[in-house]
Amino acid sequence: MTDKAILKTENLRMFFDIRTTALGKGSVRQLKAVNDVSFSIEKGRTFGLVGESGCGKTTVGRAILKLYRATGGRVIYDGTDITDMSERDFFPYRRKMQMIFQDPYTSLDPRQPVSEIIGAPLTLHRLVSNNAERADRVRELIHMVGLKDDHINRYPHEFSGGQRQRIGIARALAMMPEFIVCDEPISALDVSIQAQIINILEEFQERFGFTYLFISHDLSVVRHISHDVGVMYLGSLVEAAAVNELYGNMKHPYTQSLLSAVPIADPAAARGRKRIILEGDVPSPLDPPSGCPFRTRCRNALPVCAQEHPNLTDIGGGHVVACHNMLV
Ligand SMILES: Nc1ncnc2c1ncn2[C@@H]1O[C@H](COP(=O)(O)OP(=O)(O)OP(=O)(O)O)[C@@H](O)[C@H]1O
Ligand SMILES: [Mg+2]
Repeated sequence: MTDKAILKTENLRMFFDIRTTALGKGSVRQLKAVNDVSFSIEKGRTFGLVGESGCGKTTVGRAILKLYRATGGRVIYDGTDITDMSERDFFPYRRKMQMIFQDPYTSLDPRQPVSEIIGAPLTLHRLVSNNAERADRVRELIHMVGLKDDHINRYPHEFSGGQRQRIGIARALAMMPEFIVCDEPISALDVSIQAQIINILEEFQERFGFTYLFISHDLSVVRHISHDVGVMYLGSLVEAAAVNELYGNMKHPYTQSLLSAVPIADPAAARGRKRIILEGDVPSPLDPPSGCPFRTRCRNALPVCAQEHPNLTDIGGGHVVACHNMLV
C-alpha cells in the first residue's frame, strides 16, 4: 500500500486549546480532536473516512491540507514531508491538493459571480495567460460539471444546493488537482441530487486519475465510492482495510456496531443480521477515557483496555485494527 501512496499521515495529531471557566476560574484545556492517526492513500484511489459526528474527520482533512497547523505527526505528500513547509514552499501544493466542502451554502463567496469564483484562482496560479483564455476555461469547467453558459455571471444565492456543489467541484477541478478532500460533499443535498454528484466525482476520478479522501457518515455511500475505508472514533483510527474486507470481515467492536446499522438490500441477509446498539454517549474529547477510547462503550473490554491505548496492528493484507481484545 505504502509504495504507491500519494498521501500518507504518520501519527497525525491536532489538539485545540479550549478556554474553560470552571468554578469562576479560567483555564485552558486541550481537546484532542485527532490523536495519532496514520493511514495512506494510493494514487487514483478513494479512501473513505467514517465515524460519528465529532470524531475528528474534518479535522484530519483540514490538517492534511495545512488549513490547520498539525500539533504533531507528519503529512507526506508524494514522498515529500509537507508538515512544516512554509506557505511559500507549499504554494504549488495548494493547487494540487484541493477540498470540496460539506456545506455548499457557506463555501462560496456570496459577493462573487461564478466567473470570479472559478476564474480568480486560475489567474492566481497562472493557469491561464489572459482574460480570453480564462473565460474559455471557466466556460469549459462549468460545462464539465453540467452547468450552462448563462450560469457564469450569476451569484451563489441564485443557485440550488446541488448546483452550488457543482460550482464547488468546478472550482476544485480548475486547479487540475491530484488529490481532493471531499468533506461530506453530498450530505446537504437531496437524495436525488446526491447520486449525480457522486457520479461526477467518479467520472472525474476515471478521467483524471484523482485521488480522494472521502469523508462521510453515510456508510452506504462510502462503501459504493471507496477502495479503502478507515473508521474513526473519538480522534483515533480504530480500523482500516480495503472496502470489501472491511464491510465483510470487520473486527473492531465499534466498526461492527456502526455497520450493523446500515440497511442491506437482501431481505434474507437482513433478517439474519443483528443490530448492535451502542450504549451511552461518545465521551467528551476534552476528557477522553484512559487507554482505549472506545472501552467505556465496548462489550468486550478487558482490564488492559483501561491502561493502554491499543496500537493499530496489521492482521493481514493491510487490514489494521486497534483492539486489545482482538490481539490477546
Ligand atoms: N477549530 C476548532 N477549535 C476547537 N475545537 C474544534 C475545532 N474544530 C473542531 N473542533 C472539535 O474537534 C472535534 C472533532 O471535530 P470535527 O469537526 O473534526 O469532527 P467531524 O468528525 O468532522 O464531525 P461531523 O461529522 O459533525 O462533521 C470536535 O469535538 C470539535 O468540537
Ligand atoms: Mg465534519
